[in-house]
Amino acid sequence: MKFFVDTADLSEIKDLASTGLLDGVTTNPSLVAQAGAKSFITLIENICKVVKGPVSAEVAATDYPTMLKEGQRLAKIAKNVAVKVPLTPDGLKVCRHLSDNGTMVNVTLCFSASQAILAAKAGAAFISPFVGRLDDISMDGIQLIRDIVQIYRQYPSFKTEVLVASVRHPLHLVEAAKIGAHVATIPPKVIRQLYAHPLTDKGLAAFVDDWKKTGQTILDAA
Ligand code: G3P
Repeated sequence: MKFFVDTADLSEIKDLASTGLLDGVTTNPSLVAQAGAKSFITLIENICKVVKGPVSAEVAATDYPTMLKEGQRLAKIAKNVAVKVPLTPDGLKVCRHLSDNGTMVNVTLCFSASQAILAAKAGAAFISPFVGRLDDISMDGIQLIRDIVQIYRQYPSFKTEVLVASVRHPLHLVEAAKIGAHVATIPPKVIRQLYAHPLTDKGLAAFVDDWKKTGQTILDAA
C-alpha cells in the first residue's frame, strides 16, 4: 500500500519524508488555504523537490476551458505533479484530455461507485473516494472502497489506482489495506497515530530498564 501525506504544510511534509515512508503528497484548496502559502505554484515546486512520488495539485476553476489551462500550468511545475480535478462532467473532460497527453490526473470528491467508474473510463491515474465524509453522514465509507476495488478488478483496462482519502483514523487505513486499496492519503496526525501502542511503550521501557541492570554498553564493548 502506498502512503501519501494529506497536507500542504511543507514543514510537516519534510518531517514525515525523513521517515522514508512517504510515497506521495495530496493537497487541495482547503489544505493550501490552511497552510497559508503565499504562492501556490512555489509551494508545489518545493513539495515536488522534497517528495519524488506523485504530488497532487488541484485546479481552482470549475469550467472546462479554465480547468484545462490551470491543469496544463500545474503539470508544467514538475514531472511528479498529479493534477487534481473534481468529479464533474467538466472535470472528467479535463481528465480525459490531460491523461491522453501523458499527465497524471487525480479525480477527487468521489462519493459513489458509479462516479469511480466514470473516472476510470476518463483515464484517471487516481480516484479519491472520501471515506471520512461519508462516515460523517452515517454512510459506510469503507464499503465504497470495497465496491470500487471489486469493480476495478473486473476490468484490466482500468488503470486507475484507488487513493483512499478523507482518512480520519488508523482503522480507515487498516480496513482499506485489507481490501487492497492501492494508496491511502493520510493526515500527518493520523500517520503519527499509526506508530502508537501502549504495549510497545511498556515493553520498550522494560527492555531499557533490564539492559541497564546488565551494566554493559554495546558501543564500548571490546
Ligand atoms: O484529500 C482529501 C482530504 O483532504 C479531505 O479530507 O478531512 O476534509 O474530509 P477531509
